[in-house]
Amino acid sequence: MTTRETILLTGSTGLLGKGMEETAPAGWRILGVHQRDYKVDDSRVRHLALDIRDKRAVDRLFARHRFAAVVHAGGIASVDYVEQHYAESLESNVVGTLNISSACRRAGAHLVYVSTNAVFDGANAPYRETDAARPVNKYGRIKVECERLVAETLPHSTIVRPILMYGWNHVVGRPNTATWIYDKLLRGERIHMVTDVYENPLFNLQCGRALWAVVRRRPRGIIHLAGRDRVNRHRFALKVAKVFRLDFKLVTPVRSSFFPDIAPRPKNTTLATERMRRELGVAPMSLEEGLLRMKRTMRVKA
Ligand SMILES: NC(=O)c1ccc[n+]([C@@H]2O[C@H](COP(=O)([O-])OP(=O)(O)OC[C@H]3O[C@@H](n4cnc5c(N)ncnc54)[C@H](OP(=O)(O)O)[C@@H]3O)[C@@H](O)[C@H]2O)c1
Repeated sequence: MTTRETILLTGSTGLLGKGMEETAPAGWRILGVHQRDYKVDDSRVRHLALDIRDKRAVDRLFARHRFAAVVHAGGIASVDYVEQHYAESLESNVVGTLNISSACRRAGAHLVYVSTNAVFDGANAPYRETDAARPVNKYGRIKVECERLVAETLPHSTIVRPILMYGWNHVVGRPNTATWIYDKLLRGERIHMVTDVYENPLFNLQCGRALWAVVRRRPRGIIHLAGRDRVNRHRFALKVAKVFRLDFKLVTPVRSSFFPDIAPRPKNTTLATERMRRELGVAPMSLEEGLLRMKRTMRVKA
């Protein structure tokens, strides 16, 4: 590696972007792109507002810079938003991914596409990288389509599938499961958490470390990224209450049918993590350990 190589990170202001920023090894520069028109201060990333749906803007960016690798995490990542705004989500995710992947192909840059556990139907967990994708909602279908276009046009690329992520996000970012529960319980509000949806949640800094290992080692194909513990959302909330010493009695267990209007969720998408351990050298972290690390870094929340 020559000194100070640059990676392009799309979706740099999201939770995953924050995880990569905070775990960036010395000697690497990150150029990050996000969509909305605002300025991000106090960041190790050079952030640019650039809409990845705009092919000409993407091509101009690649003409100005030479990227050692591109981590493509930008796009609409809210399952319920995608269900309700399908056309907009196709543009953001599929057109955006097409623009980024074709620019990588022409520039010879290694692409790391960020997919999701939502490609699975939840009936046969734990899922390995070789298991068949069978999404149950529009978000999952869009991500399968993006995976296919990346794999078929860039056979040397890496596709990572992180699962339910938690951690401190940028102030401009959307809340995640841990911050949402934390804010609600801190305000003394009652919350209903489902008992029939399972994942092995992933701390965003661990996701960042795994992604840096991907950038350095360039493994081919699909790699699952997940934490150690398989929990439902109700247990997740109880763990947040325990670690942050909040009132667990505010947390009520419910079945998914309690929320009839949201997008369907696969019941158990727990991911197998052998490839992450073996090829990236990253041992999955327990949920309690991740939450304790969040607690220790509360002052650098923004
Ligand atoms: N969060 C999870 O639990 C989870 C789990 C599995 C997989 N993933 C995957 O991980 C990736 C990152 O997720 P995240 O939670 O970090 O996302 P996020 O917090 O929702 O952030 C989305 C990022 O994408 C940017 N973006 C959206 N549309 C764009 C466009 N048209 N052009 C340029 N940038 C655009 C946003 O910019 P603005 O800030 O300007 O809006 C933001 O930086 C996604 O691919 C998601 O599917 C996430």
